[in-house]
Amino acid sequence: MRVDFHFTPHQADEIWLRNKDVVIIDVLRSSTTIATSLRNGAKEIIPVASVERAVKVSGNLFGDAILRGGERNGRMIDGFNLGNSPAEYTEEKVKGKGIIFSTTNGTLAIERARFARALVVCGFVNISTVAAFLRTQGRDFVILCSGRNGMFSLEDTVCAGMLLRRMMDNHDVEIELSDGALAAVHLHKSLGKNIMKLLRASEHGRYLIQIGFEDDLSLCAGVDTVPVLPRLVGGVIRLNADPGVQVTPAA
Ligand code: MLT
Repeated sequence: MRVDFHFTPHQADEIWLRNKDVVIIDVLRSSTTIATSLRNGAKEIIPVASVERAVKVSGNLFGDAILRGGERNGRMIDGFNLGNSPAEYTEEKVKGKGIIFSTTNGTLAIERARFARALVVCGFVNISTVAAFLRTQGRDFVILCSGRNGMFSLEDTVCAGMLLRRMMDNHDVEIELSDGALAAVHLHKSLGKNIMKLLRASEHGRYLIQIGFEDDLSLCAGVDTVPVLPRLVGGVIRLNADPGVQVTPAA
């Protein structure tokens, strides 16, 4: 099984991701928020890269059944119902709702990979569930980190390293790592022992603390606290009920 790796969506051409199995990682905070909202009963998440598109897509549906969620510069977008703090996506607010979701880097990465064969969303909170899914597929896959404004992000890369180590610890899977994937594994070895410390030290973590979202860091640092598998099918992210299910037979 070969693993290709992109540190940011800006590195990855849409065409390279077409028909591949792709793992999107945006630890702070889109991956965590998507997993949390689906675990709390949201019907579906419709990821869109731009705010204009979010408004257009929600159109007349906007209201009771459809919410708008997301952020720019970490803060809730004007006219939206929810920001990008996982704590906001409570059962009370999201159960049974569709959520049009737009964030600075996370939904950009998802959009870049929208023609993937299987696209799953991964954070620390659901890392073992994603690893189990990838093992079941038994195919090459690509990790696409969301990064930060086109730049490398420490927490996404360390999360990718943890995912790969979980897979490699399972000795019946043979994994061939690209250089980026190998770097992620080594970064996890040296920085992955204390996830909370890592998030606090990261550039985006420091920014979130500065704008008042310090509590989100502990939600995003939890390992396997939200063991669900968010998967994009037909432009919509829903829960894949059984991570052991194979998407399509290996080519
Ligand atoms: C993003 O997609 O850029 C992030 O999830 C930003 C954030 O809200 O922390």
